[in-house]
Amino acid sequence: MSAASGAVGSVVGQLVKAAGCRVVGIAGGAEKCRYVTETLGFDACVDYKAGKLHDDLKAAAPDGIDGYFENVGGDVLDAVLLRMNAFGRIALCGLISGYDSVTPPIKAPRFFLTARLKLQGFIVSEHMDVWPQALQELGAGVASGKIEFRESIAQGLENAPEAFLGLLRGKNFGKQLVKLI
Ligand SMILES: NC(=O)c1ccc[n+]([C@@H]2O[C@H](COP(=O)([O-])OP(=O)(O)OC[C@H]3O[C@@H](n4cnc5c(N)ncnc54)[C@H](OP(=O)(O)O)[C@@H]3O)[C@@H](O)[C@H]2O)c1
Repeated sequence: MSAASGAVGSVVGQLVKAAGCRVVGIAGGAEKCRYVTETLGFDACVDYKAGKLHDDLKAAAPDGIDGYFENVGGDVLDAVLLRMNAFGRIALCGLISGYDSVTPPIKAPRFFLTARLKLQGFIVSEHMDVWPQALQELGAGVASGKIEFRESIAQGLENAPEAFLGLLRGKNFGKQLVKLI
């Protein structure tokens, strides 16, 4: 399970799917969810903007969630925690829902206790030893078409602030870039 229409989550989900897991994405809006299932090949996608996150998560992951790749925090994390299976694991990569204000507190930390969950944060720059290998593998995956990757490109530095605000509102589709020249 991961935030799926963003740059990081879309790649994570594809790698996990290739490793043989059932993968459920979470994305904002019907168009992004369609992209996640039809183009990225996830087994299901939950639209977190549809207003029924708990019910939709339950339907998409009826047997519960064993692993969760966290990019966003807030309401999505709260909803996922409720569905985590015993001894489930959470990789904490980002908390984007709080980047424009304050990261919302976890509503029910008791699930870490009752479900005996493990959460591990990580910072990509701490793993530079495997960077060349990852670049090679991911580059080959994109070149061969096995990994789908999408970008939104804003033209010119003058459009960077708007692109950044759009990023915080989920307006971008895939990695947000700014083309300077
Ligand atoms: N730990 C590290 O070393 C490291 C390195 C790079 C990035 N990161 C973090 O990884 C995360 C993803 O980065 P990215 O480059 O993939 O960003 P991205 O392409 O902009 O994707 C962000 C994703 O978050 C979703 N999102 C945004 N606001 C949300 C909200 N309020 N509630 C729920 N979902 C929301 C978006 O959903 P929709 O567009 O579908 O609405 C999108 O799927 C970020 O938190 C970033 O800070 C961490």
